[in-house]
Amino acid sequence: MELLSVPRSLLSCCSNVTFLGLFLTVFVLLLDFLKRRKTWNRYPPGPSSIPFLGSMLQMDFRQPQVSFTQLSKKFGNIFSLQICWRNLVVLNGFEAMKEALINKSEDIADRPRFPLYEHMGICGNSAGLVLARYGRAWKDLRRFSLSTLRNFGMGKKSLEERIIEEAGFLNSAFESEESQPFDPHFIINNAVSNVICSITFGNRFEYNDKRFQKLLHMFEESMKLATGFLPQMLNAVPSLMHLPGPHQKILEIPKQIMRCLKEIADEHKESWDPAHNRDFIDAFLGEIEKAKGSQETTFNELNLLFTTSDLFSAGTETTSTTLRWALLFMLLHPEIQSKVHAEIDRVIGRDRRPELGDQVNMPFTNAVIHETLRCGDIVPIALPHMAYRDTEIQGFFIPKGVVIITNLSSVLKDETYWEKPHQFYPEHFLNAEGQFLKREAFIPFSAGRRVCLGEQLARMELFIFFTTLMQRFTFLIPENQPKPQLKPCFAVTSSPHPYQICAKLR
Ligand code: HEM
Repeated sequence: MELLSVPRSLLSCCSNVTFLGLFLTVFVLLLDFLKRRKTWNRYPPGPSSIPFLGSMLQMDFRQPQVSFTQLSKKFGNIFSLQICWRNLVVLNGFEAMKEALINKSEDIADRPRFPLYEHMGICGNSAGLVLARYGRAWKDLRRFSLSTLRNFGMGKKSLEERIIEEAGFLNSAFESEESQPFDPHFIINNAVSNVICSITFGNRFEYNDKRFQKLLHMFEESMKLATGFLPQMLNAVPSLMHLPGPHQKILEIPKQIMRCLKEIADEHKESWDPAHNRDFIDAFLGEIEKAKGSQETTFNELNLLFTTSDLFSAGTETTSTTLRWALLFMLLHPEIQSKVHAEIDRVIGRDRRPELGDQVNMPFTNAVIHETLRCGDIVPIALPHMAYRDTEIQGFFIPKGVVIITNLSSVLKDETYWEKPHQFYPEHFLNAEGQFLKREAFIPFSAGRRVCLGEQLARMELFIFFTTLMQRFTFLIPENQPKPQLKPCFAVTSSPHPYQICAKLR
């Protein structure tokens, strides 16, 4: 009996495992059958999908824009994908994007649900700006944020002076490297985020301030963790979030950021004077006070933290990455760098500090900044949109609720539009007389209802920071070092690989 009982329990254990495996397979197939892509008339074509994973295996999540561009060569400018059980439509090329973002702007203005972020409390009336669904809460918050950014100087002289001052600190930090090789990444990040800090927190930080450094590193880390295969899986199968594993880090860092921002918001509350708004947080506290008692309002304490975090993350990494690309292009194209130097010497000279008014007289420098945004391809696939209602783009039917990816990269590098789409060529933005030329397919900030909220601020910063650095330094590849790579790393933004630079005083 005893002898028999071992194999029998083993047998029953094996059959349990087999049964469980069989049960799970049937369950997944059934779920897949129920949830899988419906077929609609005139729905965009796409690659075949397998149970559960959909067309995930066709994607390189480290550089999705490249996969999208390859797939568009096979299936056309508008094609469909299935990521687990989510239906996606990807838009490529200038014509499709123009129709979608400009003519059908409201039809595609929604954002999909992100269970990963909902798990952190980012949803409903407390979804911040970037991830908020299209509707009243988003509209109220976007209107308030834009007007508050303008009140605190976006597009005005007061903020211009703040940026000019910060550019002076940036120059000093570069100077203190004494022409030795260094990685400009974190110094630039400090300067750029200090502009957002001045608007949101009312003050700038020294570049060696511990709390500031911690916040910047956490934002950067959370951007990296937000991309790739794992977050896609967690959004598709939210129950995985309850299991232990490396994905817990994705949830932990945003929690730490919120704790840090809450500390700053609490300090503001203690010294808040409703008659005198010092910054964005004060203005938000005023709106919370006005909306007290309303259940519907988007102005609540949690949303104050999410909105501040959005301005910080959307406003730092993007502009800082663009400046790093700009310096890299200067390293790799010394002849273009010399032309920028010559224009600065002619229009501004070496002593007066650059200001926004100089821009109209500096078509070449302006073209270099535009070409950096085009060629650097900073936010290659923008942020996911979602069809707010049934719509049609270029004759294809896109039902309400389908996720829409705007592959901005395919427009910024559209081979049918740009003369040298894959080269750094400032002449894209100059006419035959050397005057600045606006180009319709220049959409690094996207377009339509969800267009970047900080475009004006970013443009101010890029011109002043870039011109101030170029006025003072010649940038060189350090001796005995290989040429830096142009291949980007992708984490929401597409940034250059770390590189070393020598900043030689002119
Ligand atoms: C070179 C710098 C920048 C680039 C290339 C850039 C690009 C973008 C892009 C492509 C989007 C997505 C638009 C869409 O969903 O279609 C976006 C959204 C956004 N950006 Fe920027 N951005 C930059 C700087 C900034 C700055 C400085 C701020 C801060 C004030 C900012 C705040 C935002 C916000 C809040 C959104 C979300 C808008 C919404 O969903 O309503 N951005 N940006």
